[in-house]
Amino acid sequence: MSHETLSNLLHEARRFAPPPELAAEANVTGDAYDDAADDRLGYWARQAERLTWAKRWDTVLDWSNPPFAKWFVGGELNVAYNCVDRHVEAGNGGKVAYHWEGEPGDTRTITYADLQREVAKAANALLELGVQKGDRVAIYMPMIPELPVTMLACARIGATHSVVFGGFSADALRTRIDDAQAKIVVTSDGGYRRGKPYALKAVVDEAVANSATITNVLVVRRTSQAVEWNGTDVWWHELVDRQSDEHDAPAHDAEHPLYILYTSGTTGKPKGILHTTGGYLTQVAWTHHAVFDLKPETDVYWCSADIGWVTGHSYIVYGPLANGATSVMYEGTPDTPHRGRWWELIEKYKVTIFYTAPTAIRTFMKWGEDIPAQHDLSSLRVLGSVGEPINPEAYVWYREHIGGDRCPVVDTWWQTETGAIMISPLPGVTSGKPGAAMRPLPGIAADVVDDQAQSVPDGGGGFLVLKEPWPSMLRTIWGDDDRFIETYWSRFENLYFAGDGAKKDDDGDLWLLGRVDDVMLVSGHNISTTEVESALVSHPKVAEAAVVGATDPVTGQAIVAFVIPRGSAGNVDGDDFVKELRDHVAKVLGAITKPRQIMVVPELPKTRSGKIMRRLLRDVAENRSLGDVTTLTDSSVMDLIAEKLPAAK
Ligand code: WT7
Repeated sequence: MSHETLSNLLHEARRFAPPPELAAEANVTGDAYDDAADDRLGYWARQAERLTWAKRWDTVLDWSNPPFAKWFVGGELNVAYNCVDRHVEAGNGGKVAYHWEGEPGDTRTITYADLQREVAKAANALLELGVQKGDRVAIYMPMIPELPVTMLACARIGATHSVVFGGFSADALRTRIDDAQAKIVVTSDGGYRRGKPYALKAVVDEAVANSATITNVLVVRRTSQAVEWNGTDVWWHELVDRQSDEHDAPAHDAEHPLYILYTSGTTGKPKGILHTTGGYLTQVAWTHHAVFDLKPETDVYWCSADIGWVTGHSYIVYGPLANGATSVMYEGTPDTPHRGRWWELIEKYKVTIFYTAPTAIRTFMKWGEDIPAQHDLSSLRVLGSVGEPINPEAYVWYREHIGGDRCPVVDTWWQTETGAIMISPLPGVTSGKPGAAMRPLPGIAADVVDDQAQSVPDGGGGFLVLKEPWPSMLRTIWGDDDRFIETYWSRFENLYFAGDGAKKDDDGDLWLLGRVDDVMLVSGHNISTTEVESALVSHPKVAEAAVVGATDPVTGQAIVAFVIPRGSAGNVDGDDFVKELRDHVAKVLGAITKPRQIMVVPELPKTRSGKIMRRLLRDVAENRSLGDVTTLTDSSVMDLIAEKLPAAK
């Protein structure tokens, strides 16, 4: 991909200035960029001071052995103390940490004092099970309060947790347990999803059947469904409830391993991304404060992600709790028992800051704006987006129909590997452009480079890289330093290669263009799938689109699009609609990007974290039998698409 080929295809002229009241009171102002530019490490040291350290660091950054970074060298702290105890000691024990809402409608209100007692009990229980500092604990749980409690209990005693998303199979869980050599698994009998209980314990039984490392399985009772019981299984309510609710939090080294989180590579076995203690907590706490403008006294914050993903680790658990925030935590799906459930929750808890993913926003666009319109969303003041590029139309819809045209939208770019937000607008500073992640945060050195690692000029496109280490960066791939170097540090010398395509617009603002593997080569032009998708979504009848490059005898690759119409689109069967869309893309982006073929489909194949599986769509577009579908959220989606095919040709 050379920079002239990923040139500005999409012209977006809309701008949304920060609301003046928000700008006037903002936690972080434009000066932060200058401060960090003057003294980057001094800037991060000041952010680390937001935490409570048992022992102050000697050196902010040790980069003497790149790419292995050490931050806040010599410092010691306890993450759980920072997330819980210090707020209680400051007199905020009665403050709500989580308004928890189960899918069936049951609720729990957990204050910081409650959390302190629960975390201490869980820490004492882990110790009784023989878990020691440095041991790994696998966690396979639904979105219930015992999940953050277990994570914090691990952090407290210095055990390294490895949360595995509850939708993963026994095989996937086994691979992760084996790779981390986990000592125990914490799970529940099951959870609730789409109005029904599902099983987790049974999956764990299968995963640990021949495990060489697991000594116990600790089980929370959530649904009361029947479970098989083995000699090494322990009920949470029998073990944890009888523990002392006091536990002295020991200080851990700033570089002590906090957690491993597995992320699937395009090939090969999953990568165990390792995050450590001091730098990680510094960056998640500061970004949560800066990017969402969190005012812990008055805000009610809700991130709709699952804690099984990094978004949940950093922005449901560690960032918000380190900042003493009040959060909403919800167990279930957005359409149970009805499609207004999320808006009902925002109304009920008067949520002020809401953080979700473009895939969810496009689903709501498809369902129609009359659903959120039935709820009072006037408490909202900041909206966030994460997970993939947000299409300009989805951004504008989000701003208008959820944010009442008053809330800034922060499009936050980061990765499991980066641990925390890296590129994002600041809500009180930045005039946002729909679809752009805008600028690296203060203290972050990101750039777009060409094949030769040269920074591209404004208006150019290429590869997103990070030029300096950052506090919450991954420290390695668990047990595989070589793969860490090979995956992230060998494409360009001394630069972290993120794997994403990006462009700088004429103002130097950054636009993310998706994974570089998703770029298409059509008649010698590199075209980004993201831009064609955004052009399709900018048509008033389209809710969601996925674009792939299919082999073509004439053009090398040809653009094939899959489109989900909006609920309000009317009749979309037949050639007229497809022609209308092809012409629309040509008008927005230019004739070269006109899709060869557009298929109107009811659903798109997504991974469990909401990313479109373009690989499967390429199989469809090239008339191949489908590859591995096991990581799909819902494998019947491919049947739905197949049924539609003849009509779409
Ligand atoms: C990849 C990382 C970060 C938490 C959730 C995903 C894509 C993420 C954005 C954004 C454009 C984005 C990138 C990145 N991505 N946020 N705001 N704009 N792309 O974590 O599963 O590790 O995925 O998600 O492609 O590399 P992840």
